[in-house]
Amino acid sequence: MKHLLKLGDLTREEILSILNLADQLKYERKNGIKKDYLAGKTLGMIFQKSSTRTRVSFEVGMRELGGYALFLSNRDLQIGRGEPVEDTARVLSRYLDAIMIRTFEQREVEDLAKYGSIPIINGLTDYCHPCQVLADLMTIRERKGAFKGLKMTFVGDGNNMANSLMVGAIKMGMSFAIACPDAYRPDPALVEWAKANGDFTMTSDVLEACKDADVIYTDVWASMGQEEEKKIREEAFCGYQVNAEAMAVAKSDCMVLHCLPAHRGEEITAEVFEAHADEIFEEAENRLHAQKAVLVKLIK
Ligand code: CP
Ligand code: NVA
Repeated sequence: MKHLLKLGDLTREEILSILNLADQLKYERKNGIKKDYLAGKTLGMIFQKSSTRTRVSFEVGMRELGGYALFLSNRDLQIGRGEPVEDTARVLSRYLDAIMIRTFEQREVEDLAKYGSIPIINGLTDYCHPCQVLADLMTIRERKGAFKGLKMTFVGDGNNMANSLMVGAIKMGMSFAIACPDAYRPDPALVEWAKANGDFTMTSDVLEACKDADVIYTDVWASMGQEEEKKIREEAFCGYQVNAEAMAVAKSDCMVLHCLPAHRGEEITAEVFEAHADEIFEEAENRLHAQKAVLVKLIK
């Protein structure tokens, strides 16, 4: 594994190996065992969109591994003024040991990897969010013990989260159902891949998708960059909510996950959110452990 550009690039074994290392790093942190796996290494973090979790967990993660993280906003970089990504990649490769980038187009992340000579980590694009899904899988395995036979349901927009979750769930042997409006389905090529490689269902009926679910996942109706569509999305997604009715048809021990930030009263009710807050905030914590594992695998 040279980069983390999207989950589809990783084998099931590579994902498991990241999760195993993440568990170990979590254990070491909890027990005060400090090892400088990345002493003297520097991660550049390019942000073209906002972030709380990704920024802080990568920065703290590098620090805990004995390395250093550099926050690079596109407001300050020449990339924000049009310097080509292929030049940025070749320059930054000479200073840094790896780059984490959060941006709009997946193409930009792929180009950094193509033109640079250091590991590139996708910290979210409009297409996918692989770091989040590694933390989600870690959280599911902690609580459920294993993946095989579990049903994961996603309620809402067929967005970057849905695109990554369906790949992650199916690779790990879970079945995956998505309830979304017809006009907001996940990436068609990924839908074809999911149908060919696992147990995948897509419906516009939230209760049908949530029936017998072991894990229910949701995300915002309007993602970063879609602020202007907020009104029309509120209408389109009305009813695509994780609420008491959805939970009533799921398994009695069904987990609820959310990548955050959450909009209570939209994609999830405040009641369901608070009832599952332990899982949701453990999931947020696991971003740190899972990303530390990715950093060690890619840089060490
Ligand atoms: N889930 C997630 O990526 O959060 P941030 O946008 O705060 O980084
Ligand atoms: N779909 C959301 C995820 C945020 C972590 C977005 O792209 O804004």
